[in-house]
Amino acid sequence: FSNGYDLWLKYHIISNVELLENYRKNLESVYLEDGGETLDIIRKELSMGLGGLLDETVSFKAFDTAENQLIVSKFGTLPEVFKNEVKMDLLKKEGYIIKSIKQGNQSYVLVTANSDLGLLYGTFHLLRALKMHESLDGLDIKESPKVDVRMLNHWDNLDRTIERGYAGFSIWNWQTLPDYIDQRYIDYARANASIGINGTALTNVNANALIITPQYLEKVKALADVFRPYGIKVYLTARFSAPMEIGGLSTADPLDPEVIQWWKDKAKEIYKSIPDFGGFLVKANSEGQPGPQNYGRTHLDGANLLADAVAPYNGVVMWRAFVYSEHDAEDRAKQAYTEFVPDDGKYRDNVLIQVKNGPIDFQPREPFHPLFGAMPNTPLMMEFQITKEYLGFATHLVYLPKLFEEVLQSDTYQKGKGSLVAKVVDGSLNNKKLTGMTGVANIGTDINWTGHPFGQADWYGFGRLAWNPYMDSKEIADEWLRCTFGNEKQFLEPVKKMMMESREAVVNYMNPLGLHHIFDTSHHYGPGPWVGNLSRPEWNPVYYHKADEEGIGFDRTKTGSDALSQYAPELEKMYADLDTCPEEYLLWFHHLPWDYKLKSGRTLWDGLGIKYQEGVDQVREMITIWENMKSYVDSDTHHQVSMLLDIQLKEAKWWRDACMLYFQTFSKMDFPKEMETPE
Ligand code: GCU
Repeated sequence: FSNGYDLWLKYHIISNVELLENYRKNLESVYLEDGGETLDIIRKELSMGLGGLLDETVSFKAFDTAENQLIVSKFGTLPEVFKNEVKMDLLKKEGYIIKSIKQGNQSYVLVTANSDLGLLYGTFHLLRALKMHESLDGLDIKESPKVDVRMLNHWDNLDRTIERGYAGFSIWNWQTLPDYIDQRYIDYARANASIGINGTALTNVNANALIITPQYLEKVKALADVFRPYGIKVYLTARFSAPMEIGGLSTADPLDPEVIQWWKDKAKEIYKSIPDFGGFLVKANSEGQPGPQNYGRTHLDGANLLADAVAPYNGVVMWRAFVYSEHDAEDRAKQAYTEFVPDDGKYRDNVLIQVKNGPIDFQPREPFHPLFGAMPNTPLMMEFQITKEYLGFATHLVYLPKLFEEVLQSDTYQKGKGSLVAKVVDGSLNNKKLTGMTGVANIGTDINWTGHPFGQADWYGFGRLAWNPYMDSKEIADEWLRCTFGNEKQFLEPVKKMMMESREAVVNYMNPLGLHHIFDTSHHYGPGPWVGNLSRPEWNPVYYHKADEEGIGFDRTKTGSDALSQYAPELEKMYADLDTCPEEYLLWFHHLPWDYKLKSGRTLWDGLGIKYQEGVDQVREMITIWENMKSYVDSDTHHQVSMLLDIQLKEAKWWRDACMLYFQTFSKMDFPKEMETPE
């Protein structure tokens, strides 16, 4: 029985007997440098990890030339004999080296770093390698994170509900904090450290100013104290109107001297109890949230105000570019670029503009956000959504790292071919010093943290990509599966295939060929392409698909909203031209007649039906694969996933039928023969 609580960090005895013997022989004892809290955590992890994997009590000893040892020590305190064996140059503060070394008759595995945190990351890496049955011979690993701030954004409210959370309630129990430290806080920190996450914003972007009052700050401090030895910094959302709501001022105008002073004092107060506080995350002038524009000021004024307040303490401000005004109904995809690009280069050095992966809102597929690469003089950070607001919540199996990878690998062409989004994120495209990636968390009080057992892979994969945005999503799936379920090839290959295809499946059965935002409104779960009566134009699905008797799709070329002009000329040209526009973005950029000929020679109408059907068929295939995996997974998890896949199939058909029947009222054409008759 497995309840999923242990995530990818279970340490069962190594199943391959030969390998087990080899590991036992090579890891007779451990030399671990003495030190503070982080080293205590390493000791505990090694006791648990090696103890479990080798099914032995781990013996911690001094450096011993008569034993094959695991050496875990910062470079400065390494036994002299090893110092020439490793090259510490180019290793960042959080980086580490893992190396197998022969000395006389003994073999050693060395984990070394410049910091305690580097050692912790190296320890997790080594334990993962053992879990994945990798050989200890010839280990020669040098790893540094490519991105500085690797964080989770919790959209958790103070009453413990979670905006767009589908795995229970918030794990932050504000009621019993600060005195009661739930074991879950520690396990949370451990899980995040194991994948390199080093920051967490505890509260919803639709912020409640209460979080920055003294009553709550002492609770935040308690969490920060738990997370610190795991290398995780705490960030908070800052409600822009806080100076009025909790400060008693009559304005929150960012240029008002009293307001400026209020934020300075607030920062001072926070840093007094949390000296390594990460900084503020801000959603301003978007979806009704207060912001500088309420006072005729700009995002720049607002961001710099907060940046100045936290700068003396090395804090940062994450200012979100997710902005929509009810007054600009023409194309909401354009607004962020319009509001942010003119101020490129004017933001303070400690401001990161936090940009969602696409210009609309975490859809199953979007082209990358045109801001990436378009603000060469401002650090931009990536915001992905790990919780699946528009991808079937925690009910559907959709492996998100595949989506993340597609975005990161997209070419912005902003500095010629090869200007990947990943290069904007890791700062290499424009030589940026401050870099970041964040993921909206899918974590809640559910026993297994994420609701769907496969939701854990999305959390895991996000962390891995934040560490290295160039990682291959298939490799990540392989790691996660091995660490979570085991190393049997007959299990790994088919399940990996299932995960890798799951993303395209959801695109096909929800939003094929570039369709987007046709979800039923407010909850964003099932189909609702027919909704058109909401007061704000961009809240209505009909605004996005624009279906009529002539055709379907959103014209974003020069004849339409011209949003395409926000991309580099190469891309603009490629997407504007129907011959070169990839079909997966067709209806994102073009409004086309129902009988438009696709590359396959079929009409757009037929192609749409075929795609919807393909999505349904792909879910059927996932079910078949999973059925055959019974002997590799504990029966409980197997059953859970089976039930969820059955729902997914039912709902894939629901999507297909609802959308096709609705669109048929315009196309007035028969369903393609490949499509099953709606149920
Ligand atoms: C989406 C989501 C909201 C969220 C918003 C944001 O619109 O539906 O719940 O607040 O994104 O990212 O700010």
